Amino acid sequence: MPKKVEGLEQLLVEDLQDLFDAEKQLVKALPRMAKSATDEALESALREHLEITRGQVQRIEQVFASMEMRARSRPCRGMQGIIEEGRQTMEEDLAESILDSAIAGAARKVEHYEIAGYESARALAQKLGMKEAAGLLKETLEEEIQADRQLAQISKRLLAQAGGDRSLTAGAPKRHPSRAQRSPRQGAVPKARGRKLSTGGHAARPMMDHEEIRQWAEQRGAHPACVKRTGGRGDVGMIRLDFPGYTGEESLQPISWDEWFEKFEQNDLALIVQDTTARGQKSNFNKLVKRSTVEERPRARAAR
Ligand SMILES: [Fe+2]
Repeated sequence: MPKKVEGLEQLLVEDLQDLFDAEKQLVKALPRMAKSATDEALESALREHLEITRGQVQRIEQVFASMEMRARSRPCRGMQGIIEEGRQTMEEDLAESILDSAIAGAARKVEHYEIAGYESARALAQKLGMKEAAGLLKETLEEEIQADRQLAQISKRLLAQAGGDRSLTAGAPKRHPSRAQRSPRQGAVPKARGRKLSTGGHAARPMMDHEEIRQWAEQRGAHPACVKRTGGRGDVGMIRLDFPGYTGEESLQPISWDEWFEKFEQNDLALIVQDTTARGQKSNFNKLVKRSTVEERPRARAAR
């Protein structure tokens, strides 16, 4: 006989069923979001969160077990809506820098929704004196808060890199027809994901040549760096360029060019840069992307 619940306990059970479904939806949606991201840090944050989310699915099962109930889910319409909105955005043919910001924004909406869900569920469990359940829900809540913080940092950096220069969007219509609406000929852009580097005439160009990258960085006073706490055991982790006066001081750590390029090659990266802004000023816009996303562009040159 299933256990009969009512009142606040019933509310908690329904919240948990909802969260259980929300997490399972995310396990399916996160790989697609990660795949669509061109920014390396964003992609790895989403992949990392996928693993965490798998653990969260199991943790909800534990919560149900602590209440001597079988884990069941019920369709979480809220999460369906957030995921669907994100999916629609990813299908638009946005410039890469904008697409990454959109993905990060969509992922943050997910986190905020979950944070609210886990806060409520935890408060209910506490009120009902279900210590084990409350403790488990707190663990997940903290993971969601941490994920949101990480995404917030990434969003901030993506926007800082765009530098307020509108040239990356102004030359192209804001919304392109979706890929499905275009003819196959138009859709057959020889880029990995059919995306454009919309630049409005101030071409963002990919670089792979080490000397060229080094010169571009040195002309701007930028130094090779890695993101703190992303590496370990001989691995420098995620590489970045550190610009003077940029807010990366707390999160970045200087490394040598050799280390930087070793990682650059290991991860098959290309550095997309813009030389000048729309107003003709020197641009610091740069972005590390998977080489496969730029490889077939005519200006791409393999390093050595
Ligand atoms: Fe989650």
